[in-house]
Amino acid sequence: MKVDLIIDGGTVVTAAGVMKVAIAVEAGKISALGSRSVLPKAEKVIQAEGKIVIPGGIDPHVHYELYQKGETSPETWDKGTIAAAMGGTTMVIDFATQQKGKPLTEAVKQKLSRAAELSAVDYSVHGTLTDFTDLDKMRAEMKEMIDRGIPSFKEYMCYREEGWYADDWALLAVFKAAQEYGGLVKVHAENVSLIENWQQECLRKGWVEAKYHGVAKPNFVEAEAIQRALSLAEFAGSKVYIAHVSTREGVELVGNTRGKGLPAYAETCPHYLTLTEDLLEAPDGFYYICSPPLRKREDVEELWRGLADGRISVVSSDHAVFTSEQKSKHSAVFTEVPNGFPGVEIRVPIVYSEGVEKRRLSLSRFVELVSANAAKVYGVYPRKGVLAPGSDADIVIIDPKKEKTLDCDSLHMGADWSAYEGWKVTGWPTTTILRGKIIVDGEDYVGTPGEGEFVERKIEDAFIKTV
Ligand code: URP
Ligand code: ZN
Ligand code: ZN
Repeated sequence: MKVDLIIDGGTVVTAAGVMKVAIAVEAGKISALGSRSVLPKAEKVIQAEGKIVIPGGIDPHVHYELYQKGETSPETWDKGTIAAAMGGTTMVIDFATQQKGKPLTEAVKQKLSRAAELSAVDYSVHGTLTDFTDLDKMRAEMKEMIDRGIPSFKEYMCYREEGWYADDWALLAVFKAAQEYGGLVKVHAENVSLIENWQQECLRKGWVEAKYHGVAKPNFVEAEAIQRALSLAEFAGSKVYIAHVSTREGVELVGNTRGKGLPAYAETCPHYLTLTEDLLEAPDGFYYICSPPLRKREDVEELWRGLADGRISVVSSDHAVFTSEQKSKHSAVFTEVPNGFPGVEIRVPIVYSEGVEKRRLSLSRFVELVSANAAKVYGVYPRKGVLAPGSDADIVIIDPKKEKTLDCDSLHMGADWSAYEGWKVTGWPTTTILRGKIIVDGEDYVGTPGEGEFVERKIEDAFIKTV
């Protein structure tokens, strides 16, 4: 009997270690790992000598078709997930944001129907609750979401103007319900009152350029909110996950909480690991407006230390694409610029190149950060995030020697600009396999948008506790 596919000769990396074994794939699942001589024959063999074989990347923070500051991101589910696949990611988690007065389920239904039609990789969404007028109703909705396999919620401690803001009372209620029903709250931690007042102060003084985005959101804005989110979660007895940590203070606060044995988790993003606030000072500084803002070199270095020593558990992209036209149209005043960076395609390669190549991270830690830990935290492990018999055959082959100079023409993300124009990276995914099917072959996407599947999730204490 023949299996469908064997990947032979590669260096196979899982969070547990690095092995020189072949991987057999049958009916979309990994059927065996072992020496080639003991595995069955295969319909197709990929020779992976000199390559690194990892579980497909899982990006638990992407925004497709995001509406912000009067603009809708042109990054549709098909384009955005093809870009994910090209960059070695086989599962993404986007956000379904409740419209006030309407049930969260409506937003979830809308997002999932777009994804079902167009997604090139497997997917899920986090719910975002924004209407806290009836907390009993809110709790019932959370329970319904969790029972339907959507057990994570992103809540915003800022963005009052956008209508996304959750105050401390609302956040505490969300933490308590998450604790009771088996959910996880992912928190955007920035202090809303300080931001709004500092922004107004800047505008009153006529300080409208991009660099004042950072002035209105100093490190303390993030640190204070992270501290409060950690305290509220501890009081509620719930787990907590801090989104897009950008500051050295944030790394320390999460690390201290984890050091007490509390279930606190955090992610950072490629842009906080590579770019610094001085970019905001250039005439085109408006491109670099994201929230939280870019920081100083000392923050960048502490984030890398946090990734290596376990204080930060995940690298997500916070992929949020707005075009040059959309960004520049609003560039006269920093508060009006749509926030965010294209990042879903460069996430795995940047962490490999800047992390493993530059000897900041081991290969196993790299796999934890781009795949395994997100799988455990968000409840898809061991179906995903690991190369083991019985797991989905989501497999990425990286050529560690492949050098690439980044520019937006050679990337597949929907932006006509790149924050990484001219950056050189070493190591790039050359094959992406989704549930046993090759969807990226060298420079080509060879899959079909719409073949990505919704993945039901359940957060298991046995796995999340190991993160
Ligand atoms: O700048 C960012 N992060 N934009 C996307 C929205 C968010 O807060 O995650
Ligand atoms: Zn956020
Ligand atoms: Zn985001």
